Amino acid sequence: MPVPFTNSIETFAVEFSHNIDHRMPGSMKAVDGISVSIAKGEFVAILGRNGSGKTTLARMLNALLLPTGGSVCIHGIDTLDESLIWKVRGLVGMIFQDPDSQIVGTTVEEDVAFGPENLGLEPGEIRRRVQEALHSVAMSQHAHTTPHLLSGGEKQKVSLAGILAMQPDCIILDEATALLDPAGRKEVIGLVRTLNRDKRITVLHITHDMEEARLADRVILLDAGKVVLDGRPSEVFSNSPAIKMAGLELPQIAELFDLLNQEGFDLPDCAMNMDEALAALIKVMNRCREQHVHLH
Ligand SMILES: Nc1ncnc2c1ncn2[C@@H]1O[C@H](COP(=O)(O)OP(=O)(O)OP(=O)(O)O)[C@@H](O)[C@H]1O
Ligand SMILES: [Mg+2]
Repeated sequence: MPVPFTNSIETFAVEFSHNIDHRMPGSMKAVDGISVSIAKGEFVAILGRNGSGKTTLARMLNALLLPTGGSVCIHGIDTLDESLIWKVRGLVGMIFQDPDSQIVGTTVEEDVAFGPENLGLEPGEIRRRVQEALHSVAMSQHAHTTPHLLSGGEKQKVSLAGILAMQPDCIILDEATALLDPAGRKEVIGLVRTLNRDKRITVLHITHDMEEARLADRVILLDAGKVVLDGRPSEVFSNSPAIKMAGLELPQIAELFDLLNQEGFDLPDCAMNMDEALAALIKVMNRCREQHVHLH
């Protein structure tokens, strides 16, 4: 019996140099010795300043780029195995920042069918998958619309449907929400979160938005092609010196608590949502009130 893979993604000291001539000792590697295991069903935010290697790493995870050192395994498949490259691309779907660059069909339905058609599936199965995928992203009513007439958020949902129709193991969003307004961002992230929970699709969300990162199960912070921090959001965001050293800012709640603690308050290192923050602040205020009463 085949052994079930519990890890969607594993990288072993993976490296990538964009310019092969620069593969000499001391040259800059865009990705420089990253080893991570990402379990099936995890929702991971990838953070890092511009040029820290996030996109290069993501492109290696769906075999758009092949490592120049180390290796990448997707669901147990080494991406260097050329015979299985299309299998890897079907398992790991990517959505980029610019929705227009991803549109290939003249109608929404055609666009979503593109992936399953490339898998060589029967027309009936393709139709079934397209309908299901459009339903999952609440875009069924736009099936016959020209994609170019849609809003940015709607186009990202169509891209998401195109990936879902491939029945992926993992979805990578490479700043896919960056060009959307707050409502559009919330909708796309909410949809991806639902797919992650209901279908156990692993999600890697590359973002510069700390508030979005705060909501992930795990945060991986990159700098100069290396992993600087890797842990639960509460752990990662409690390390404000490392976050700042990597050129990023803390989420607003974490920044506020950090400043209050510097003023001598005893707040938890990092509250991850408004309810936790409110509960912690009320506790501190009550303590102050009690001390005040006691003094008089
Ligand atoms: N096609 C390319 N050719 C040469 N160098 C590249 C290429 N793409 C990226 N690089 C370099 O590789 C490094 C990492 O780039 P990458 O795009 O992976 O960073 P990133 O973390 O995604 O940045 P951003 O937040 O700006 O998207 C940078 O130094 C960049 O200049
Ligand atoms: Mg990038």
